[in-house]
Formats: sequence, C-alpha cells, structure tokens
Amino acid sequence: MANVTVIGAQWGDEGKGKIVDWLASRADVVVRFQGGHNAGHTLVVGDKVYKLSLLPSGIVTGTLSIIGNGVVLDPWHLKAEIEKLEGQGVEINRENFAIAENCPLILPVHRDLDGLREAAAGAGKIGTTGRGIGPAYEDKVGRRAIRVCDLAHLDDLGPQLDRLCAHHDALRAGFGQPPVDREALIAELREIAPFVLQFAEPVWKRLNTVKKAGARVLFEGAQGVLLDVDHGTYPFVTSSNTVSGTAASGSGLGPSSTGFVLGIVKAYTTRVGSGPFPTELEDETGQRLGERGHEFGTVTGRKRRCGWFDAVLVRQSCAISGVTGIALTKVDVLDGLDKVKICTGYRLNGKVLDYYPSHAADQANVEPIYEEMDGWQGTTAGARSWADLPAQAIKYIQRVQELIETPVALVSTSPEREDTILVRDPFQD
Ligand code: GDP
Ligand code: IMO
Ligand code: MG
Repeated sequence: MANVTVIGAQWGDEGKGKIVDWLASRADVVVRFQGGHNAGHTLVVGDKVYKLSLLPSGIVTGTLSIIGNGVVLDPWHLKAEIEKLEGQGVEINRENFAIAENCPLILPVHRDLDGLREAAAGAGKIGTTGRGIGPAYEDKVGRRAIRVCDLAHLDDLGPQLDRLCAHHDALRAGFGQPPVDREALIAELREIAPFVLQFAEPVWKRLNTVKKAGARVLFEGAQGVLLDVDHGTYPFVTSSNTVSGTAASGSGLGPSSTGFVLGIVKAYTTRVGSGPFPTELEDETGQRLGERGHEFGTVTGRKRRCGWFDAVLVRQSCAISGVTGIALTKVDVLDGLDKVKICTGYRLNGKVLDYYPSHAADQANVEPIYEEMDGWQGTTAGARSWADLPAQAIKYIQRVQELIETPVALVSTSPEREDTILVRDPFQD
C-alpha cells in the first residue's frame, strides 16, 4: 500500500492537520477531496503555528498539494489564505499547488443563504461554520454551480447564471432579501478569476500521471465520519461525504488508490455546533478537558463541547470507513486525571445497543454505559516513544484499540509535529 487516506473518525478536530503535516514529508502529493474552508487544521512546527482551512496541509512542507473536485472552493478565501501563508514564509506556486478545474465555487449568495437559514432556525440551528458549504453543495448536485473552469468563460455564463439566480432569488425573496446583484457578482468573479485560474488544471490527469510514476499519495480528509451527510448524526452534519471512499470520487483517482485508511481519533470526544453527543460532560471534567486541550474552533473560535471517549462511535466510524489503523491524538490532555471513562455501549428504552442508531431522537436519548479505568499521574506530553509513556496510559491506549477493533498506528502527544510515536508506518503497510 503506497498511499494513505487520512479521515477524522469523530466529529472533526481530531488532529488531522498535525498528522497530515507529519506524514507529508513521506508523501509525494497531498490531496484534499471534500469539504471546503469549514475545516480548520492547526499545524505546529517549532515556534511556528499554521492555520489552514482550504489548502492541503502538505503545502507547509512544500509537498505537491492539490485541491480535488470534491472540494467546494471560495475563491476569495483561497486568495486570503494563500497570502496569509506566504506572509509566514510558505511558498505557493504552480509547481507545488493545483486546483481541480471542475471544482464548484462557493459564492457570496451561498454564505448569505447559510446565514439566513441559521438565523431563521433559531434554537433548531445546525450551528454551521457560516461559510456557505451546504448551499454550495446543494447547487452542485442541483446542477446550478459555477465552477473553477467557468472563470475562464465569464462572457458565456448567461444561461447558467439564469438558473442559479432564479433559484436563489426565490429563496431570498422568502427571507425578505433583494435578488442577487448579477452585475456585482460577475464583476467580483472577473476580478478574482486570474488568481484562481493560474492554479487550475485537470488534476485527475496530473494525479494519474504521478500515480503511474509510483508517487505516494496522501489524501487529506476534512471534518469526521460522524459529520458525514449519510453516516453522521443527520441533520447535524456537514453537506459532504467525509468517509474514506470520497477520496476516490473527490480527486479523480479510483477507489483502489485509497491505500491505508488512517482514522484520526482523539483520546476523548469533542463536538462543535449542535447535535447529539452521548458522552458529553457538562461538569468540571468537561471544562478541564476543554482547557487542557485548548478546545476552541480554529474557524469560528467557538468553544468545543467535550466528553469521554466513545468507543461505540469510533468502532462504527472505523467500520464504515474501512479504517486500517488509527492515529490516537491528544492522549496528553488526559494526563493527571484520577479516573478515566470509556463508553462501551448504550442503553435505549431498556435495551442495550452496541451501535449508534440512525434516528435523531434515538441518537439524542441513548444513555452511555461506561467502563472506568485508573488514570495516570506521570505525563505523556511530548513523548516520542512507547517507552516514554506511563504504564497506565499504555493500558488506556490498548483498551481503546481493543474496543474499537482497530489497531493503533500512531500516537500523538502534543501539537508539535515531532511529538508523535510511530507504531506502524501507514506508508509501509
Ligand atoms: P483537525 O481539524 O482534525 O486538523 O484538528 P484541529 O487542528 O482543528 O484541532 C486539533 C487541535 O489539537 C490543534 O490545535 C492541534 O494543534 C492540537 N493537537 C493535535 N494533536 C495534539 C496532541 O496530541 N496533543 C495536544 N495537546 N494537542 C494536539
Ligand atoms: P475539521 O476539518 C468540526 C461542523 C459545524 C456544524 C456542521 C455543519 O477542522 O475537522 P458546515 O459549515 O460544514 O455546514 O457545518 O459541521 N463542522 C466541523 N466541526 N471540525 C470541522 O472541520 C468541521 N466542519 C464543519 O460545526 O456542526
Ligand atoms: Mg479542525
């Protein structure tokens, strides 16, 4: 298996960016295949901190980085993120960066609609990142999207723009908003087009060429399996498929290319936004996890909800996504706790469940069944080998891998790139 597909196995923010950055030096190309700038990936290299939302995390090591067709792309955000990274000394050019020419665009109308719907939903809101992700994917499958390749043909956009505006104008009227300002939209697109087009190409072609030459491809997932539009906690999900299979359709490489599926798993659980969360802790321990883990969203700055490790959910995610091995992150955040708990099953209406049901009310009503273990007093923070870990922390890691029925390939013990323990090299597997 020469390729690796990284996906989040919980509700996002598992530490995918850190692990992709660490693996990137072993890869020839890093590919984003779904989501958009709703993602927030933090990379720490020495005293430098990089925050990426849209660009593949391989860009920081200078590895060829590609935005695949499965991503929804906000061209103005793209420019801002590239400029910010260039300001931090990262070089981004035609040699190390490309965008799929068939990538759909996120437009200001999508951001508007995301915000209007969330505001109208009140307490029932999804708690989206407000970046227009859902509306942009709707327009893609509704065959109304404007795509990167259209930026080279803005004079011929007429009928497409008619379809898009007819749809949005009706929705906007329902929210008491004025129709789309077509002239302003075209003018904005015309201004940003050259910047985006310099990177645009049929990336499926470049990927297939490098694949034939034996390149190692690293696919970088965003969000997590529990936010998947099919398999997640619907409707409190994002609008793309976040599972490993999307790496193929979202890049233009076939399903045999996904290789080793590395599920990124946080040693406890977090969630940002609304939706069910069986092991959520609304007490001092939850507060402590949030503080020690710096659990604030990279994109929106929102406080992340925190809770115990849920082995049922992660086992399910690993099965659904065909995870070969996991990277267990943020073990250090559990340092110093007297006791740690792991959810091993649920109780619902007097029955015991070994899986998470699909119905929203059931998802909200399950009661976790816990197993309690002793915590550890020593520290795992910064450990770079098994030998550096306290015996009880090793027991916790082993129990996790047993319960999720998936082996541990990597352990991460701090935000820093090199504070990573390699148990089984995904690229050598
Ligand atoms: P992503 O969305 O999956 O890439 O994760 P985020 O970057 O949004 O959130 C993970 C946060 O945890 C970031 O601030 C990382 O720097 C940090 N992080 C990653 N791995 C570790 C770890 O092993 N220990 C600690 N303490 N922090 C980590
Ligand atoms: P990374 O890649 C955590 C959540 C939002 C909201 C739901 C829908 O950093 O792990 P959207 O804007 O996508 O329509 O919001 O999904 N969400 C994330 N939560 N990490 C992410 O990305 C997320 N991307 C979206 O909070 O609940
Ligand atoms: Mg994140």
